[in-house]
Amino acid sequence: MEAAILDSRLSDATTAFLSKNRRLLINDEWVEAASGKTFPVYNPATGQVLAQVAEADTEDVNRAVAAARQAFDEGPWRRMTASRRGQLMWKLAELIEQHLEEFAELESIDNGKPLSVARVADVPLTVDMFRYMGGWATKITGETLPWSRPNDFLSYTMREPVGVVAQIIPWNFPLLMAAWKLGPALATGCTVILKPAEQTPLSALRLGELIQEAGFPKGVVNILPGYGETAGAALAAHNDVDKVAFTGSTEVGKLIVKAAAGNLKKVSLELGGKSPTIVFADADVEKAIPGAASAIFFNHGQCCCAGSRLYAHESVFDQVLEGVSAEARKIKVGAGLDPETNMGPLVSEEQFQRVTGYIDAGIKEGARVVTGGKKAGTSGGYFVEPTVFTNTRPTMKVVQEEIFGPVVCAESFDDNDLENMARRANDSLYGLAASIWTKDISKAHKLARLVRSGTVWINCHNVFDASLPFGGYKQSGWGREMGSEVLNNYTELKAVTAKL
Ligand code: NAI
Ligand code: MG
Repeated sequence: MEAAILDSRLSDATTAFLSKNRRLLINDEWVEAASGKTFPVYNPATGQVLAQVAEADTEDVNRAVAAARQAFDEGPWRRMTASRRGQLMWKLAELIEQHLEEFAELESIDNGKPLSVARVADVPLTVDMFRYMGGWATKITGETLPWSRPNDFLSYTMREPVGVVAQIIPWNFPLLMAAWKLGPALATGCTVILKPAEQTPLSALRLGELIQEAGFPKGVVNILPGYGETAGAALAAHNDVDKVAFTGSTEVGKLIVKAAAGNLKKVSLELGGKSPTIVFADADVEKAIPGAASAIFFNHGQCCCAGSRLYAHESVFDQVLEGVSAEARKIKVGAGLDPETNMGPLVSEEQFQRVTGYIDAGIKEGARVVTGGKKAGTSGGYFVEPTVFTNTRPTMKVVQEEIFGPVVCAESFDDNDLENMARRANDSLYGLAASIWTKDISKAHKLARLVRSGTVWINCHNVFDASLPFGGYKQSGWGREMGSEVLNNYTELKAVTAKL
C-alpha cells in the first residue's frame, strides 16, 4: 500500500481528516469494507497518493441498502414532519458553511480544481442547494381534482417519497454533485445510498460526518466509496432499491438503464454533452470572447455543459478565434493549491490519456491547433494546455464526441438563417446546453426556441442556480436536476378518491 503524501499548505483540519484511513458510512457507523479492501485516492497535481479509502462492494451494498430500507420503512424519518426534515437540511447547510475552507481544500486536492474556485463556486453552491431544497420539504403538495363527469366523489393527489434511492455521482464537482442528489432526496423523505466517484470520494466522506452532526436519523444517508463496475453496478441492479439517480457518461447511463430493468426501479440520468457556443456578428465581442473561453475552460472543460463547439459568424470569426486563443494562453495552469493557478490538472491519469488521445485524434484528422495541444507542467500531475482547434469538420471525432477536457473546436458560419444555425447546433446526439451571444434580443429568443437542449444561456454560459432545472434532451439524459422539477424524480404520485 502506497503511503499518503500531504501538502504542507493544507489546514490542520484537512490534514487531520486525511491522516486516517476513511471508511464507509452504513447505518450511522463508519465501518471497513466487508472484504477489508481499501483503494488509493490520488492528488492529480502530483500523481501521489492522498489517502486510502475503504472499497465498497456487493456485500457492503447489501448492508447499506438494508439500512436504508429499514430507515425508510420503520425509522423515525418516515414519521418526522416535513418541517423538521427541512430544519435538518438547513442545519447541514450551516455546518458546511462553517467548514467552507476545509471543503474547498478537499475539493482542490482531490479533484485538482483551483482552491479559489472551490471557495466561490463548489462549496457555496452546495450550501445553497441544501437551503433551497430544505425549503421545499414543507411545500410538496398534491391537488384536489374537479371531475369531468357528474359525480359524488372527492379526488385528490398526494406526493410520497419514492423510497430507497441509490445515487451514483461523478468526480467533476464531487461535493456539489452530492448536494444536487441528496438535496431533493432528503427534502422528499427518501433514504439514500450515495456512491461518490472512485477518483474523488473525500468531500462526500467529510459531508457524511456533518450529516451525522446535523442529527439525521440512522440509515437515512449511507455513503459507499467504491468502483463503478462493482459497487455502482451492484446498486443499480439491487432489487430493494426503488430508484437510481446517476450523473456521468452516456455509456454508463445506458448500463444503468439495463441494470435497473430487473425490478423496474425508477431512473434519472444526467449525462454527457457537446454544447454549442454561438457568437453572432452583432454580439458584444468584447464580452463574447471571455465568455466563450470560460464556457470551455471553466473547471478544465470537465463540465457536462462545457461549450466545446464554438461557432462564430464569419465576419467576427478571426477576432473571436484569436481572442479565445489569447484567453487560453493567459490561463495559468498549475496545482490547485497555488494561489496563482487558474486551471488545475485533469482529475486522473485515465482522463489525461483520454483528453490527450482526443487532441491527437483531432490533429490526425486534419484539425489545426491554434493554441495548446500539449501536456503542460513538469511535475507528475495530469496537466493539459488549454487547446483551441479550428479547421474542424462536423464528422470529426473531436466535434462529435464529448472530450471532457479544455479543448474547443471553432468553426465559422456564414448565413443568417436561424433554422440553419439551429440545425448545426443540434447536429449532436447530445442536447444538454447551448449559449447564444448577440445583442438582438428577438434573434436570441427565436434561436433559444429552436435549440434542442435542456438549458439555453443568452450572453452567458455555465450559470447555475438551485432554482433552475438542469438536464438533457436526447442522449444527455432523463429527467431534470434542481428546481422544483427534480422533486418529481423523487416522489410517487398517489390519487385518492372517496365516495361521498
Ligand atoms: P463514468 O460514467 O464511468 O463514472 C461516473 C460514475 O459512475 C462514477 O461514480 C463511477 O464509479 C460510476 N460507474 C462507472 N461504471 C459504472 C457501472 N457500470 N455501474 C454503475 N456505476 C458506474 O465516467 P468516467 O469514466 O469517470 O468518465 C468518462 C467520461 O464520462 C468522461 O470523459 C466524460 O465524457 C463523461 N463524464 C460525464 C460527466 C457528466 O457530468 N455528465 C461526469 C463524469 C464523466
Ligand atoms: Mg468510467
